[in-house]
Amino acid sequence: APSLGGAFAAARMPFGAAVTPMQLADPKLAAHIAHHFRILVAENAMKPMHISPREGEYTFAGGDAIADFAAKHRMPLRGHTLVWHQQAARWMFKDGEADVSRAKLIARMERYIADVVGHFKGRVFAWDVVNEAIVYDEPEHAADANGFRLSPWRTIIGPEFIEIAFRAAAKADPDALLFYNDYETQNPKKAAAIVQLVKDLKARGVKIDGVGHQMHCARIQPSLADVEAAIDAVASTGVIQHVTELDFAINDRVQGTAVTAVTPELLADQAERYRSLMDLLLRKRMVSATLVWGISDAHSWLNGWPKPRVEAPLMFDRQLAPKPAYHALMDVA
Ligand code: XIL
Repeated sequence: APSLGGAFAAARMPFGAAVTPMQLADPKLAAHIAHHFRILVAENAMKPMHISPREGEYTFAGGDAIADFAAKHRMPLRGHTLVWHQQAARWMFKDGEADVSRAKLIARMERYIADVVGHFKGRVFAWDVVNEAIVYDEPEHAADANGFRLSPWRTIIGPEFIEIAFRAAAKADPDALLFYNDYETQNPKKAAAIVQLVKDLKARGVKIDGVGHQMHCARIQPSLADVEAAIDAVASTGVIQHVTELDFAINDRVQGTAVTAVTPELLADQAERYRSLMDLLLRKRMVSATLVWGISDAHSWLNGWPKPRVEAPLMFDRQLAPKPAYHALMDVA
């Protein structure tokens, strides 16, 4: 099948995917990735829990393998992610049995960012410096009065952990684009909070270049009007935007709904949702890269989360064959 990334390149939209070192080591999957995608991100290999499992130790092999593949195929590489409450280097939050002090956690964060961003300098063009720090309309996740998630970062350091992280990243690689990345960014309250965050950082002289919209269209049915409003709101701050983790789950259209078979109707509906979203993004010209979260339905994280389930959220099936969503995307590109 013709290259998806090639078609989007012609429409001036870099289009890519999240990959793993294991996929790149498999010739068939590596060929699929090289053919269809034009920009990459590590699905897990560049997260702190993998890069720094223990204090003072770095395991860069997975990230390096992805960076080498990206360079070989002339694909820009996004770095994901430096400061997040999940898949963190948990040792950072502890000092023996006790909670780490504020000063020590800041020092550890700064050191980590300096070392990791420094290691990938010149190979990663854009970093998700902070991931998922804002929470709205999710009673299961505690947040402060300004919507900042009560993560260990926020709790131990205070809301200024974000500013500290961005300053450290800018220092480590002045040429990298620095992003704030989050999910459900089309929620009007969340979009407003992100806009406020960007403005606050800029007002304080902190370098922030972009906002990443994850676009896991699984927990929610994003309305295109809300997506458009969020993109316009973020654009008004002057930063660039990427869609960083796109997928359209078939099995979570109403949360909890169990789908037991992938039907042609579900795939046609999914194709339509991919088509209308990409049509919007191409028309608006405010999003300068789009990445899907996985290379085929066999490789999607949604197969295992929230619970093992029948899922088919991407545009290639489990045999890597193009699905209706692929054709819809080729159509709109
Ligand atoms: C997911 C990966 O896809 C899984 O393999 C892993 O077990 C958990 O993390 N938001 C993000 C991504 O920013 O890093 C997450 O990736 C998906 C949700």
